[in-house]
Amino acid sequence: MATMRLMLDPAKRSPEVQQFEDGLRRRVVGQDRAIRQLSRVYQVFRAGISAPGRPLANLLLLGPTGSGKTRLVEAAAEVLFGDARAVLKVDCAEFQHSHEISKLVGSPPGYLGHRETHPLITQEAIDQYQTETTQLSLVLFDEVEKASDALWQLLLGILDKATLTLGDNRRVDFSRSMLFLTSNLGSQEMASLVEGTLGFVGAGKFDDAELDHKIYKTASEAARRKFSPEFMNRIDRVIVFRSLQRLHLEAILDIELERIQERIMKSTAGKQFVFQLTSSARDFLLLEGIDPKYGARHLKRALERHLVFPISNLVATDQIHLGDLITVDIEPGTTRPTFFKEESGALVIPAAQFNPAKALTAASSAGGPGSFLTYHPSAE
Ligand SMILES: Nc1ncnc2c1ncn2[C@@H]1O[C@H](COP(=O)(O)OP(=O)(O)OP(=O)(O)O)[C@@H](O)[C@H]1O
Ligand SMILES: [Mg+2]
Repeated sequence: MATMRLMLDPAKRSPEVQQFEDGLRRRVVGQDRAIRQLSRVYQVFRAGISAPGRPLANLLLLGPTGSGKTRLVEAAAEVLFGDARAVLKVDCAEFQHSHEISKLVGSPPGYLGHRETHPLITQEAIDQYQTETTQLSLVLFDEVEKASDALWQLLLGILDKATLTLGDNRRVDFSRSMLFLTSNLGSQEMASLVEGTLGFVGAGKFDDAELDHKIYKTASEAARRKFSPEFMNRIDRVIVFRSLQRLHLEAILDIELERIQERIMKSTAGKQFVFQLTSSARDFLLLEGIDPKYGARHLKRALERHLVFPISNLVATDQIHLGDLITVDIEPGTTRPTFFKEESGALVIPAAQFNPAKALTAASSAGGPGSFLTYHPSAE
């Protein structure tokens, strides 16, 4: 009997995993390796062959500060559940003292205050975002290097057996959870590697691949020094984030600007308008929001301060109206943006017809000199 042999392709991804990966790519910039690793884990979950009695994955995320570690987890929540907050997040720094552990797991019955403590980690809390099609939970332990000994003990149990026993003896099952543990251990050393790089001031000390390798080494060595073998052995994957280059940071600025534009489009004030930035305004925001030491960590704050606050004032004081086109510029020698109304009500858009997503695509493909968003009514 002739046998038929068919070569299979294990690298092929299912459409839902491809969608997951694409969604992450649209949100997280310059961290392709991290995204690929995460989507592999997701593929195993989707195939239904995750190891029983363990969390779906124990992932240790390392790398420079402000490089997107926490953002990746939020992005996964957005893609899977439509909400960046669909993550159970434990800030380990808040539980440095062992007595604070009762906030996490509740205190045993009979203890003073037993009834008043509502543990942060419960089965309901973990499972609350699951949907019929995605019975998976995202659990994030942020700044894990700051955990107290008592928290470490809890963590080791969760990582190994996927269970946690609460103060009142109820059990919490993590076997449908992806566990993310983040740490910026070694970030001081990484910052000194990156210094002078970041593309802002031309070439740094190392080329891209070299820097990537050095960051990887610094992060993994710092982790091995700090974390016990017991802990490291329970980690399925160590994912090291890269330090971001100027081109990544520019892309992050675009993503954040787009989010602000979306907020404006969804605002209930009935004064939807479009804004665009001159290239000097972009440069200004990049410089304000980004620095070699903190990556993009301060970008959002800079945008709130220099864009969202002044814009809110302009809206509240009736200087901006529905359909306006606003240009944000930096006058030479000044240290804050200037706002100009190009044409009053030029873009009058019946709210019911307006589709921000469509406008955004139309606008970004239009791309005038230094423009970020321009709404072209003809593109409707
Ligand atoms: N790679 C990235 N892609 C998109 N946005 C990013 C990226 N890195 C940073 N950001 C932006 O910067 C903010 C801070 O990044 P994030 O909180 O992910 O840093 P982190 O790596 O967790 O740093 P830390 O170690 O200090 O916690 C994010 O909310 C996001 O706006
Ligand atoms: Mg973080």
